[in-house]
Amino acid sequence: MTKTISGFSKLNKQQKIDWLISNFLSDNPNAETTLEQYWNSNKKLQQLHDEFIENTISNFYLPYGIAPNFIINGKSYAIPMAIEESSVVAAAALVAKFWSTRGGFTAEVISTTKIGQVHFMYKGKFDALEKYFNDIKPQLFKATEAITKNMQKRGGGILDIELKNKTDKLDNYYLLHVTFETKDSMGANFINSCLEAMATAFRKEDIEIVMSILSNYIPDCLVKAQVSCKIEELGKNATIIAQKIYQAVQIAQVEPYRAVTHNKGIMNGIDAVVIATGNDFRAVEAGVHAYAAKSGVYKSLSNCSIDDGIFKFWIEIPLALGTVGGLTALHPMAKLSLEILQNPSAKELMQIIAVAGLAQNFGALKALTTTGIQQGHMKMHLQNILNQLGASPEEKIELIKILNHQQITYNSVNKAFHKLRINKLKQ
Ligand code: MEV
Repeated sequence: MTKTISGFSKLNKQQKIDWLISNFLSDNPNAETTLEQYWNSNKKLQQLHDEFIENTISNFYLPYGIAPNFIINGKSYAIPMAIEESSVVAAAALVAKFWSTRGGFTAEVISTTKIGQVHFMYKGKFDALEKYFNDIKPQLFKATEAITKNMQKRGGGILDIELKNKTDKLDNYYLLHVTFETKDSMGANFINSCLEAMATAFRKEDIEIVMSILSNYIPDCLVKAQVSCKIEELGKNATIIAQKIYQAVQIAQVEPYRAVTHNKGIMNGIDAVVIATGNDFRAVEAGVHAYAAKSGVYKSLSNCSIDDGIFKFWIEIPLALGTVGGLTALHPMAKLSLEILQNPSAKELMQIIAVAGLAQNFGALKALTTTGIQQGHMKMHLQNILNQLGASPEEKIELIKILNHQQITYNSVNKAFHKLRINKLKQ
């Protein structure tokens, strides 16, 4: 029997929960309590979250942590991160502190151009299409005037519109390739509105518009972040650390299986700040991974060099971010994150987030090529295991002491936990 429903969105919250429980959660007596315990007691705040999406029945929390001690272009930052993975904030904080005594991070925005496209089909002669495009181009700009007025006041707007012939890839396929400057806004709504207005003005009987949409591939919206120091400044076993990190990056340049995990580690840092600042992490993920594959082979996003005794480690990535508009203006936590970051421009936020990615990559590579990743991971994961086992706060303190120099696995913690309880019973 299928369990479908029409008009679900018209039900109120309680009716939606009742329907869900009776159809999919009937064996779980705690389902309703689980959903309700994440409702916010501040009714106005809950309503705000309810209205972000359709069919909201609860909230899904992520831990919100701070990685202090970041120095970027000589300025201090405490970076807010929203992420569930236990070791990410700890690693960011550790790496930030490490580089804060070695000159900190430098970062620069290389370019800020965003892209949108109007995809269409045309069966006629290319010359005629080209002439039509050149004739109508001023009207395409005109068609977006009402939308671009405010953006132009802020120094942004449409940079150019090009006609591209794609018929070598797909019969009759052409597109308008439009470049934008969106200043401090991520610009998705602005770009899409401009494209739709343009498509309406461009349309005629022999031009079949298929769709108008921004591209999340933005290879000309680039930021670079870097750290460097004399090799000996890397501390204990400096030469080995420098060499190993260099080798790890070389491996990720040539071995796609490794490159994907290498870049996933970078995205641990990037996504956490993108989410904390109310930006679109799916857009960032899609664009960054496409950039990693721009040569036709998926590669490391970070680079490393060792020249004349200097260790250099850097990243260059595309980031489409906003510090005004969208969720950044609506979500109180996103607003607070931006305040913690001293209300950065979109360009500054690009720099901060690229640094968060680079720091995470440095932490991961240093751990992977020295102690291995599990030592740090499982130490952080210990809290999760203890929570899962239902350890009390006192038991947690004792178990962390007992397990201090032991290898942390679920079994080792479980064993120590039960031993502790048995010993307590015997006392
Ligand atoms: C885990 O979330 C991230 C790492 O796998 C990254 C890497 O391997 O470089 C540790």
